Amino acid sequence: MSRLVIVSNRLPALGKGVAAGGLAVALEAALKGEGGLWLGWSGKTSENPGAMQMQTERQVTYAAMDLTPEDVAGYYEGISNSVLWPLCHYRADLLEFTRPDMERYMAVNGKFAEALVEMLRPDDLIWVHDYHLIPLAAALRKRGVQNRIGYFHHIPWPAQDLFRALPRAKCFLAAMLAYDVVGLQTRADVRNLRDALDSMRRDLEEITPPRGTRIGAYPISIDTAAFATRARRAQELPRIRDLIQRFGPRNMVIGVDRLDYSKGLPERLRGIEQLLEDHPEVHNKVSFLQITPASRSGIEGYDRIQQEVAERAGRLNAKYGTLDWVPVRYINRAFSHSLLAGLYRLSRVGLVTPLRDGMNLVAKEYVAAQDPADPGVLVLSQFAGSAAEMGAALIVNPHDVEDVSNAIARALTMPLEERQERHASLMRRLSQHHVAAWSRSFMNDLDPRSLGAVSPA
Ligand code: G6P
Repeated sequence: MSRLVIVSNRLPALGKGVAAGGLAVALEAALKGEGGLWLGWSGKTSENPGAMQMQTERQVTYAAMDLTPEDVAGYYEGISNSVLWPLCHYRADLLEFTRPDMERYMAVNGKFAEALVEMLRPDDLIWVHDYHLIPLAAALRKRGVQNRIGYFHHIPWPAQDLFRALPRAKCFLAAMLAYDVVGLQTRADVRNLRDALDSMRRDLEEITPPRGTRIGAYPISIDTAAFATRARRAQELPRIRDLIQRFGPRNMVIGVDRLDYSKGLPERLRGIEQLLEDHPEVHNKVSFLQITPASRSGIEGYDRIQQEVAERAGRLNAKYGTLDWVPVRYINRAFSHSLLAGLYRLSRVGLVTPLRDGMNLVAKEYVAAQDPADPGVLVLSQFAGSAAEMGAALIVNPHDVEDVSNAIARALTMPLEERQERHASLMRRLSQHHVAAWSRSFMNDLDPRSLGAVSPA
């Protein structure tokens, strides 16, 4: 069997914010038991990055590379998070492109390629993850690498009309064509990428010889059974027992999101405010827990959203809070997966209302964590990739304050039978479409042997 080599910006063991980012969680599960190599940024900067730091754990060798402060500024903060992230999340207004940043982005991808070439075996299958590393396959091909290389894009691919706003759009698209397989989260993302490729096909053919790149939708998922078990066990955690004692068992509404403008947090708080305005019967009874680890501070858009959400939560509490009731608990910290699983299980409603999201694994985790005999209700944005698979949730338009408020009210009063039906329907899907099935279907398309086996014609 070929060795699997994963390349991503963050490494799970050494990266920060693991509890909130879906990427690390999903891939650790994909490698479990099979072994392999995983290359990424160490998360550290150094003026003179030295040798790669290697560490082997449960048959996976992690290779961590330091970057210079200039690398981080141009590649991570610049093109990745001030150009590609805002654009793919429909925030062209936040886009800040500079030529030096682009040069740095390409150079860092070159550094990843150089590091990888040293460690590569001829029949390794290479699987590259996310927008930080779009040009990696092209950089590897330039260095003579013939291996099969796949790319998975964890975030949305924007509609063609918006994609055209990306400076050097052609260069990014040409880079995609150096892969053998390109995976996106949803069929809508696939359509958008195909539209972009079609619109520039002739130009692209001049830049890169076509290699028959396969483009498909591979919706990422969670280890459903493991998460359900974790949530069941978490009920015994002293912290969770303590919370149940203090708040009563099922009066909590929970949201868990990395602090990001794409998550729709101000809009969500407006929805909650509307609910408190329209439904005085929930006062003193329901509390909202919003767990939001800070992220990417210093990058345009992030400090502002931090301030806006904190102010809104503060104003809401000042307006509606009483001596013994705080409507919204807003916490800027990451929690362990076990504790989160326990919190999901004891929350009556899970709120996942991003303005744009590639998939959103919190939605899947919330459902997996529920007690099937007395499940909570998921309120889910129509703009999360997961909405395409999770029609049995209460689907909302996150921009429509009343829609969100009505959905929360409906979730809080939903009869047991309806909750059970919706939950069972969501679980049927999640039990089959778990993270192992996700990585298997991508790997099947990437591995030439399995490709040969499935296409006799
Ligand atoms: C999203 C991206 C990941 C990223 C994570 C955390 O889930 O798809 O690639 O790792 O956010 O963001 P950060 O910038 O801290 O790595």
